[in-house]
Amino acid sequence: MTADPPAGGDRRLTRHADVRAVLADPRFLVPAAPAAPPGTGMAWLRGAVSRFSNGDEHARRRARVVESLDALDPVRLRREACERTSAELAGGARVDVMARIARRVPIGVLATRLGVPEDRREEVIAAVTTMAAAYHLPSAPGEASAGDAAVGVLAAALGEGGEEPGPGLLAAVAGMLVQTCDATAGLVGNTLAAVTRLPAGVAARWPIEALLAETLRWDPPVRLTRRVAAEDATAGGVPVPAGTFLVLDLAAANRDPEVFPDPHRFDPARFDPARFDPAGFRQVRGEGGGHLGFGSGIRPCPGERAALALAAGVVAAALGHRLADPEIPYEPSPNLRVPAGLHLEGAETTEGPR
Ligand code: HEM
Repeated sequence: MTADPPAGGDRRLTRHADVRAVLADPRFLVPAAPAAPPGTGMAWLRGAVSRFSNGDEHARRRARVVESLDALDPVRLRREACERTSAELAGGARVDVMARIARRVPIGVLATRLGVPEDRREEVIAAVTTMAAAYHLPSAPGEASAGDAAVGVLAAALGEGGEEPGPGLLAAVAGMLVQTCDATAGLVGNTLAAVTRLPAGVAARWPIEALLAETLRWDPPVRLTRRVAAEDATAGGVPVPAGTFLVLDLAAANRDPEVFPDPHRFDPARFDPARFDPAGFRQVRGEGGGHLGFGSGIRPCPGERAALALAAGVVAAALGHRLADPEIPYEPSPNLRVPAGLHLEGAETTEGPR
């Protein structure tokens, strides 16, 4: 049995198979954000994005996001992220990757590709960071949020880059940038935290894709997500009445020994196609499940390709650097794991950007 007794009305699922089953079951919905009038900043944004909607509305909003993301060239995203990171790290002085790079580079690269003019880049990065901090913590109805003005900053920047964005376009772009912000920073930070602690030269044995995939399994930036039962259903082998809230523990499911042998070991070889026999690899990424770092089922993360390209570019440029301070603090968050600071210094000559 994997559904814990209700704690504060919520049940927590931790088995990989149980989490995947709920994510694939249309009887479970995301807790929706109420619609709010345009001009109300974060309340409007939360009510207008695909992330907090269900049914036909979700399908329409998600299709718009997928269309924008399909138009992006991942090779270009990766190259730009790598170049900008290399510029930040040039000279080998001590740099806090979380403060200078992990959000700034991915948001900046993506915002430019989504229509933000180059000269509004830094302003938009700051706006998106503020919006992201307010995104998962709604204010009380009618109460102002720190992100309200930031929504207007993004709208103005998009308007300057092209035509005035309608609400649908603004919600799609804002949603993508906000979803990118903390999660991609977490992937960058958690990957660097893991690989800079490996013995010298060991990280270079694996492709960056394998390092990122194993980080998404072993130390995922998005730790959990939620669903609510729209009708009487079953979760983790237990009946759940309509209205039950479920906490799906993606991080715990990623360490389920039924899917990942020796689950607490950081082992990028699990995701290295060169070491995997193709049938086994398909099994891990396919029916067997794979890691749940990007969710799964009906509404997995549509930004996976972009996120991996951006993170790969940053990590490639940072890989040859040393961890300057082994103490890595983490941001306080119930559902995200993102280093609050991670200092790198001094490029090593054995590994350059890849
Ligand atoms: C490493 C970075 C990222 C991680 C770990 C991540 C993780 C996730 C996860 C786990 C979900 C599913 C939540 C659920 O099922 O309840 C999700 C949803 C979503 N992600 Fe990402 N994400 C990342 C980056 C991005 C990027 C770069 C974009 C867009 C450019 C993006 C856009 C979205 C959107 C729009 C949704 C909502 C999808 C829907 O509900 O239909 N994400 N993400």
